[in-house]
Amino acid sequence: MYLLAIETSCDETAAAVLRDDSEVLSNIVLSQDEIHAPYGGVVPELASRQHLKSIDYIVRESLESAGIPLDKIDYFAVTQGPGLIGSLLVGLSFAKGLAYYFRKPLIGVDHVQAHIEAVFLEHKDIELPALALIVSGGHTSLYFMKKKLRYELVGRTRDDAAGEALDKIAKFLDLGYPGGPVIQKLGKKGNPQSFEFALPRMTDRSLDFSFSGLKTAALRIIKENGLTKSHPRLADFLASYENAVVRALVENLSRAADRSLPKSLILCGGVARNKRLRAAFKKAALSLGVKAFSPSPKLCTDNAAMVGALALEKIKTRAKLIFFPELDAYPRLS
Ligand code: KG4
Ligand code: ZN
Repeated sequence: MYLLAIETSCDETAAAVLRDDSEVLSNIVLSQDEIHAPYGGVVPELASRQHLKSIDYIVRESLESAGIPLDKIDYFAVTQGPGLIGSLLVGLSFAKGLAYYFRKPLIGVDHVQAHIEAVFLEHKDIELPALALIVSGGHTSLYFMKKKLRYELVGRTRDDAAGEALDKIAKFLDLGYPGGPVIQKLGKKGNPQSFEFALPRMTDRSLDFSFSGLKTAALRIIKENGLTKSHPRLADFLASYENAVVRALVENLSRAADRSLPKSLILCGGVARNKRLRAAFKKAALSLGVKAFSPSPKLCTDNAAMVGALALEKIKTRAKLIFFPELDAYPRLS
């Protein structure tokens, strides 16, 4: 059995072919970074128009690279949301067209849950329950997974996502887009202790995140110290800011783990590519005495293999399958 998965929720046009044993036969991702870079962030209308231009080519490329013709595909899968509505509609309409023409089922998948499922593609031995931290440009959420396909939201950001907090400061300093990797590169040799950041604290017992305070503090430090792109203390500042974002994420994750006592910790989403975060995550898991899992960097950023993986899981467990043609897109966390 073969499945073709499509992902167009933000600024990556992606398609993947998977076999029923979750073997990824192809995983093609076309990033739109260059298109959005001049604006320092994703421009929704440009994103949807670009998906429209690329989707046919990317789907064909994924089939060719897998060596599977379109008429041999048994299931289609697509991201329903959350994401940019115009972008989602391109992938969803394309997938519906294919499912309609070939009279095959179409499985709608949640983008955030798919980010978590990415880790199971490479690690078959993850013990549940697990606590999953998903950190990307659009999302920062904590999920408790008692078993496969059961996601209990235990914390989410009340303002910016962690990736957004990095992207916005990079944009302010005119460092380029996406900001996360640029900050990692330019802050690599900096001293993470040189600028102090007070970490956000929720006044209630909530496990929610907040990054607006860190962002405001960063802007104040930039102003007070006259920091610019070419300032000699730029690396120190970026390392300190990155470190503060990482600490805010990992401290909250540890707090949540203390309460829910998971057997495994999962770190996923685009920001999970960050080296400082990966190191802090492993260290936290070690001191909590639980196993830590994270997808390889390629599977952290948006891709369609993760969408296919979640769809296969849904087919396997016969959880509520939503078939064509009722499928609709949704912009926010479901
Ligand atoms: O998951 P993703 O590809 O798209 C969304 O669903 O948002 O994540 C993109 C985010 C961007 O904010 C980008 O700056 C961040 O992931 N990112 C990183 C790194 N690579 C990507 N942040 C920190 N360090 C990195 N190495
Ligand atoms: Zn994503």
